[in-house]
Amino acid sequence: PMQRRQASKQRFVTELSQCLFDFVIQLLPTQEEMAVKEDVRKLLERLIRTIEPDSRLLSFGSTANGFSLRNSDMDLCCLIDSEERLSATDLVTMLGDLLERETKFHVKPLPHARIPIVKLSLDPSPGLPLGIACDIGFENRLALENTRLLMCYAMIDPTRVRTMVLFRESACWSTRAVLTIPWTFVTNSQSLEQEKGTLSSYGYVLLVIYFLVHVKNPPVLPNLQQMPPLRPISKEDTHLNGHNIWFFDDIDLLRQRWHSENMDTVAELLIDFFRYYSRDFPYNTGVASIRAGLLKKDVKGWQSESSNGRYADSRERNRLCIEDPFETDYNVARCVTKDGLYTIRGEFMRAARILATRPERAIVALAELCE
Ligand code: CTP
Ligand code: MG
Repeated sequence: PMQRRQASKQRFVTELSQCLFDFVIQLLPTQEEMAVKEDVRKLLERLIRTIEPDSRLLSFGSTANGFSLRNSDMDLCCLIDSEERLSATDLVTMLGDLLERETKFHVKPLPHARIPIVKLSLDPSPGLPLGIACDIGFENRLALENTRLLMCYAMIDPTRVRTMVLFRESACWSTRAVLTIPWTFVTNSQSLEQEKGTLSSYGYVLLVIYFLVHVKNPPVLPNLQQMPPLRPISKEDTHLNGHNIWFFDDIDLLRQRWHSENMDTVAELLIDFFRYYSRDFPYNTGVASIRAGLLKKDVKGWQSESSNGRYADSRERNRLCIEDPFETDYNVARCVTKDGLYTIRGEFMRAARILATRPERAIVALAELCE
């Protein structure tokens, strides 16, 4: 009976891995969508240059790091290479006016936000059946770098890493797609994260990478921030605004030299992932850091259950702690509230439970996970 159970488990994970893979693949953006988005980026860059001639408009977030599905929003960052430049607030106001006048975008400039941005959306068209939502920010160089870090992690083991990350978004894709049409201004993940106290896509990707680098043994991914550089590098080359942004980014070389000994299938990894975050991760005391592994909240000054009642605010802030890979004093999940964490853990537990029952057909498990 033991062998039979083993064989049936093996069959289940093999079948489920294939299902997951097929499911995610059909939701990847089409070539056409990527081409339209690139055209939009170029058009916007041309327009911005009429205000700031020395500027570049670069893509970051999911469209640039390999973790995007159909219809994911576009995050764009404007870098200005000249010394004299307008303030972000003025730029947002001027760019907002210009885009309103010259394009078909719905435009919403937020010049006085903590990080000034222009929000844009485009109505559906044949090439873009679900329209486009796009945020333009300024000088966010750290975001460009953390995008590159996530992209490198995705490239080391594209099948397993991308399937694990994209699975969650695939599962809520249909709901999101419906939501995106009339609510383009509302569904931006960062504002949503703040409104509902839940986790951004960025935070979720960090949880997946943390699990693959630091929890799985043998690890599925190496720690790119701790690998020795090929040649000595100076501090100026590794630091940006006081943050160490160095990581091993020669992925071609890495693929020749580094091979994971972990042979788990995607389904096995996902089962362990849900189990780990529903049962084993020390939410009360721990900080997930892809740079340094499991850290302690009290060492970082991020206590959540402070014995001192005066820190009511910080208590609500650090329920879930995920260290930003470069801005190490920044908790990416700081907006997750008590209720938000309860929901997130509830989702992980539900998924772990469904997978543990191992239905006869893997596709049934997948359908239940997506409900
Ligand atoms: N970002 C960040 N700090 C955060 C949230 C986001 O630096 N607290 C930056 C990251 O560079 C991230 C990008 O903003 O890649 C976009 O974040 P988000 O929209 O959450 O993630 P996406 O990967 O773009 O996912 P989605 O497809 O859901 O938009
Ligand atoms: Mg995004």
